[in-house]
Amino acid sequence: MTATVLIGATGLIGQNVASRLSDDRFAPTWLLTRRPLTPPLPHQRVRVLDFAELENQTLDLELSDGILICTLGTTLRRAGSKDAFVAVDRDLVSQVAHWARDRGVRHCLAVSSVGANADSRNLYLRTKGQAEQELIALNFPRLTVLRPSMLLGERSEFRLLERLGTPVLRALTPIFSGPLRRYRPVQAAKVASILVHQAASASGPVIDIWESDRISRWQPDTD
Ligand SMILES: NC(=O)c1ccc[n+]([C@@H]2O[C@H](COP(=O)([O-])OP(=O)(O)OC[C@H]3O[C@@H](n4cnc5c(N)ncnc54)[C@H](OP(=O)(O)O)[C@@H]3O)[C@@H](O)[C@H]2O)c1
Repeated sequence: MTATVLIGATGLIGQNVASRLSDDRFAPTWLLTRRPLTPPLPHQRVRVLDFAELENQTLDLELSDGILICTLGTTLRRAGSKDAFVAVDRDLVSQVAHWARDRGVRHCLAVSSVGANADSRNLYLRTKGQAEQELIALNFPRLTVLRPSMLLGERSEFRLLERLGTPVLRALTPIFSGPLRRYRPVQAAKVASILVHQAASASGPVIDIWESDRISRWQPDTD
């Protein structure tokens, strides 16, 4: 049976995705992580691995016609340097996608960011834009990229800016209208729901890029 693979299952969006992959169509679901994790659902399996060695790992997965959901990412602070940040948010994303494409995955879904732009002078936005370009160049039969604005949700890790900013942003949500609408913060759970909803749909555009205002507007019964 062909598999669904989730990479980033220990993260804020990834945890929300894993708990929503309950549909039989996603079985078996493999959560590939770098640290142990209790899978939220019975048909899910966890494989802990060194991602730098992904190509050389013998994983007993049938990925032909399968699904890859990638919610990988780090922050400049966690990564420790610009190069280390780019190594995860662009290079590791690309490496994982290559690995999946070479094994026949038909639908790749990935999380990028509002404002992603390969030509941006901002490192974060440029890295996200370059990662998107690398995904597009892989020519998956179907590629879905979400560009959320700032995420709301409970995370175990302490992030000062998010912790300070979340209540403020939540209170200010009504002012994010007109041209500012794209910066309206979004629940990580909603981003996860869209990923799972799109993964479950049998067809869709070959390349589907979700801008943040489309993410904000989305309701389960509107798509
Ligand atoms: N936070 C925001 O406001 C925001 C806004 C827009 C877009 N985004 C983007 O959305 C995506 C998901 O965000 P998130 O907040 O859910 O991320 P997150 O909570 O930081 O989770 C990131 C995931 O990536 C994994 N990861 C990071 N570095 C890794 C490495 N070297 N090897 C293997 N796994 C690695 C983490 O594993 P460990 O748990 O083992 O570290 C974790 O599972 C990211 O690409 C992020 O840039 C975030």
